[in-house]
Amino acid sequence: MAAELGIRRLVFADLPQVIEIERRSFPTPWSLAMFVLELSKVEAICLAAELNGSLVGYIICSRFDQLWHIMNVSVDPELRRRGFGSALIEEVFSNVGADAKLTLEVRPSNTGAIQLYQQLGFLGAGHRKRYYQDNGEDALIMWRTPATLRGTLDDVPAAPTLPLASS
Ligand SMILES: CC(C)(COP(=O)(O)OP(=O)(O)OC[C@H]1O[C@@H](n2cnc3c(N)ncnc32)[C@H](O)[C@@H]1OP(=O)(O)O)[C@@H](O)C(=O)NCCC(=O)NCCS
Repeated sequence: MAAELGIRRLVFADLPQVIEIERRSFPTPWSLAMFVLELSKVEAICLAAELNGSLVGYIICSRFDQLWHIMNVSVDPELRRRGFGSALIEEVFSNVGADAKLTLEVRPSNTGAIQLYQQLGFLGAGHRKRYYQDNGEDALIMWRTPATLRGTLDDVPAAPTLPLASS
C-alpha cells in the first residue's frame, strides 16, 4: 500500500507525539505549555503532517499584525528528507495567501533547514545576536515576501542594516 501523507490542523490531543518529536529535534525543546499557548491562539496556524494515520511532523505559525512568524517546524528524525517539512510549510503558504509576509529565525549552523527555506523563497535578512540561549549562537533572520520571491528585500519590514547572510 502506498504511504499516504495528509496535512491537517494540529489539535491538543496531538501534543504527546509532538513533544516526543520536539525533544528529539531541538537542544532546547519547547515545553508543553508553549505548544498549548500557541494552539490556543485563534489566528495561529498549527498543522500536523500525518503518514498513514501517525503524526510525523508539525508546524506552528503565529500572526503578529500583518506578519506571520514561523515559530516552530519539525519532522520525526527517522522520516526526514521525504518532503514532509516542505509540505507543512507550503500548506502554511496556502493558508496565509500570496501577498503575505512571513519571517522566521534559524541557527546559521542549521544548513539543511536554511537550504529548505531558501528553496521555498525565503531570503536571509540579518541576524539576532546571541539569540539561542544554549550556546549563544546568533539567529539568522529570514523572510518570504512578494519581494523576496523576486530576489530582493525591498518590502521586508525594518530591513536591517546588518550584512545579508550568504546563500
Ligand atoms: C528542517 C526540517 C523540518 C526539514 O524537514 P524535512 O521533511 O526533512 O524536509 P524536506 O524533506 O521537505 O526537505 C526538502 C529539501 O530541503 C533541503 N533539506 C532539508 N533538510 C536538509 C538537510 N538536513 N541537509 C541538506 N538539505 C536539506 C533539501 O534540498 C531537501 O530536498 P531533497 O531531500 O530532495 O534534497 C527537519 O530537518 C527537522 O525537523 N529538523 C529539526 C528541527 C529544525 O531544525 N527545524 C527548523 C528550525 S528553524
